[in-house]
Order: sequence, then structure tokens, then C-alpha cells
Amino acid sequence: MKTIIEPFRIKVVEPLRMTTVAEREEILSAARLNVFGVRARDVLIDLLTDSGTGAMSSEQWAAIMRADESYAGADSFYRFHEKVKAITGFEHILPTHQGRASERILFELVGGPGKVVPNNNHFDTTRANVERSGAEAVDLVIDEARDPKNRHPFKGNMDIAKLRGLIDRVGAEHIPLCMVTVTNNSGGGQPVSLENLRHVKEVCREHGIPMFLDACRFAENACFIKKREPGLQNESCRAIARKMFDLADGATISAKKDGLVNIGGLLLLRDHKLNLDARNNLILTEGFPTYGGLAGRDLEALAQGLDEVLDEHYLEYRLRSVEYLGERLIEHGVPILEPPGGHAIYIDAGQFCPHIPAQQFPAQAVVVGLYRLAGIRSVEIGSVMFGGTGRKVDLELVRLAIPRRVYTQSHMDFVIEAIAELFARRDSLRGLRIVEEPETLRHFTAKFEELSA
Ligand code: F0G
Repeated sequence: MKTIIEPFRIKVVEPLRMTTVAEREEILSAARLNVFGVRARDVLIDLLTDSGTGAMSSEQWAAIMRADESYAGADSFYRFHEKVKAITGFEHILPTHQGRASERILFELVGGPGKVVPNNNHFDTTRANVERSGAEAVDLVIDEARDPKNRHPFKGNMDIAKLRGLIDRVGAEHIPLCMVTVTNNSGGGQPVSLENLRHVKEVCREHGIPMFLDACRFAENACFIKKREPGLQNESCRAIARKMFDLADGATISAKKDGLVNIGGLLLLRDHKLNLDARNNLILTEGFPTYGGLAGRDLEALAQGLDEVLDEHYLEYRLRSVEYLGERLIEHGVPILEPPGGHAIYIDAGQFCPHIPAQQFPAQAVVVGLYRLAGIRSVEIGSVMFGGTGRKVDLELVRLAIPRRVYTQSHMDFVIEAIAELFARRDSLRGLRIVEEPETLRHFTAKFEELSA
């Protein structure tokens, strides 16, 4: 059979609440045209993020009931540790409450003024934690990643020449570690090849620089490798994931993505001394090392989730269902970042509404338009998010992030229909102006006004 179906059936359902255009008009104006201010109950299909929004399996819920909530040495920790070690090969495994806590601990220990941390593309919280330590965060993704139409199969790859250039310029002694984000969220959810990881590792090894993964979406990356990288078609995604981890000297992971849980994070380390320092920091700020910032039940759900995420049928369905959304949008002429990513589709709003200049936030106009038309919540990744930071904004994007195991194909068909309809009426979309904004991270709380046509 050619049709790829959702490889699960539904046991518990959560009703969706329909609203009318008139109601959404009121909701939008109360939220001052910022969808972060909209209550989730007023959203029909929520594509704000794929982080912590997935559905757990019956086995995960069962594991939650079995959990041991002892303060120290709980069985749940040992089950969790065994599972993570089996998948990643790491001995030093610290649980944290989410990805950014792992990042904070790591960069408090290795960052600092005068240090430089390269990445293909730093995710916002990674960059923020690097910068908070006083270090500089540098993005070294390949140039192909900047062209939305370039269908390079591994558009998340790091540019090896740029990495060598950086090391020559600043000196290896100023680079405490080199990160690679798999898949590259800020670059469109694009994968990194195993070959590229090997090259990065080689360069790092030459200069004595540890290589770390930001491995939030490691399973999706492994599945892309299986599909696209020559010679790896007969390997399991689990085996490929292990090859990725084997190259790394450490990893920060938000378990809210490929951990298939609603909360949780990991910090994986090989270095003994760094592990001791990280453990002490963890005890001070997150919790005792056998629970980190989590409950025993969270560790149980995560151990089970990490197994389920590496199921070949699940990963096949996951990548295919995101690709399906992307392909249908392309068929309707909607400009998107190509090829489709692993966890999200990114609409190129600069092309979607060329009549709205960057200073009038075309991607935010699409986000507002899509909610108003169909109750779908997406997120702006463009001049609203980065414009206030002095960072160069290459593309005005709208991210449609797909929660794991939550929506069915007919939900996606509805999303496709709504976006195609909005695209047909794109001339009616209006630019926006910010009327109030905080000093940092303005996208979360800024208030907007629509400009008159
Ligand atoms: N790294 C990457 C690549 C991420 O995508 C995220 C979170 C983090 C680190 C931080 O993890 O949220 O558990 O603290 N990304 C979410 C998103 C928020 O919507 O893309 P966290």
C-alpha cells in the first residue's frame, strides 16, 4: 500500500472549539493582534510550536502510574538512565526541566567573555544563554540555507570552510565547544548529514574543540539521513541516531520535541570534570541529579517516549505528514521554504505579500490573517522576532509547527484550504505597526495596530 497513515488510533479525544469570524475579530483586538495573547481555547488548530504539545501514548500514561517519586535513587531515574544510555551511548546523563536549562548550565560552565560558540544556527534560547555568559554566538550554516527555493537535501549543514575560518580568526583556545543543531530549527527544520557531522568533528578534533549536538529533533534528523544520505538506506533510524551521538562530546536536548513528552530536558556529557561541575550546578538550580527539574513520572514518560520516537513507521509518518502539508501548499502556489522541514513548514511571507514592506511586518500580517480567517495559530519568525535585536533579518517567515501525534490528515487538509484561501485574498492583508513593546523578546508581548489600506 502506498498511503502512509497515522500509525496509531485514538483512545482519548479533546474537543476543538469552533469560533466565528466575528468572535475571532474580537479576540484578536483584545490580544492587540498578538497571537501569544490569545487563549488556547479560542484556537481551532494550534501550530504555534511542536514543543511540549505532542500527544502521549497509552504506554507513556501507564509508565506515569508506575513512577517512583523518591527524592534520591528512584527506580524511574534508573529506567530513564538505561534507556538514554542505550540510545545515545552517553554515561553522564543529567535530567533538566527543559532544553534551555541544559543550555544555561552548559554555558555558565564553558562560556564567558572572550569566548566564541559556533553553531549551524543557534536557536533563540541557545543564543541567549551563550550571550548571557558574555560569549559570542556565531551562525555558520551553509549558504544554500539562505535561499528559500534551494532544495539542498541537507540544508542544515555547517559550512566547514566557515568553521575553519572562524577558528583561524579567533583561535581554538577561545572556542569552548562547537554546536550543531539537529534538525536546524532556526534554518527551517532542515537536517544535517552524517557526513557533515563527521567533517565538523574532524575539524574540531584537529583543534581540540569538543563537538556538541543540540539534539532536540535527533530522531527526525536520523530519519532524513536514512532517506537522503547515500549508503544509509538499510540502517535503522535508531542506528543512525547512535552514529550521530557517537560523534558528539556532549548534547543539550529539549525532550519536549523528540522525547514525545510535554516537559523535560537532558544534558549529556562525556567529560568527567565537566559532568561533576554540571551536576553541582544542577543540584543548586534544578534538583538532585536523579530527578533534575522533573518528577519521577516525567522521567518514565520520557524513557518510553524516546523508544517510541525511533519507531520507523512513526518517523516515516512524521516526515511524510509535514512534507504533505508543504507539497500541497506549493501546489497552491504558496511560497514556502523548500524543501519541507521535519517539524514545520515555513511560509515565505515576503513573497506571500510583497505589497507589505518588512517594516510593516508581512509575516505578522499573515499570522493575524490566518487566525482571523480560520482560527489557526502560527508564529511570526521575522522582523517582529528579530527586528528589535539589531540582528539582520534575511527572511520574513511564518512557521506552522506540527505537534506530534495530535492532528490528523483532515486537520492538515483544513489548514491547506485555509492558507490557499488566504493566499487568494492576500491583497487584502494589511501591514502592521507596533504600538507598545518590551525591551527584550518583543514578539511575545508586543501590541500591534493594523495600518489602513
Ligand atoms: N534548541 C532548539 C533547536 C529548540 O527548538 C528549542 C525549543 C530549544 C533548544 C529550547 O528548548 O523550549 O525545552 O527550553 N524550541 C521551541 C520551538 C520552543 O518552538 O521551536 P526548551
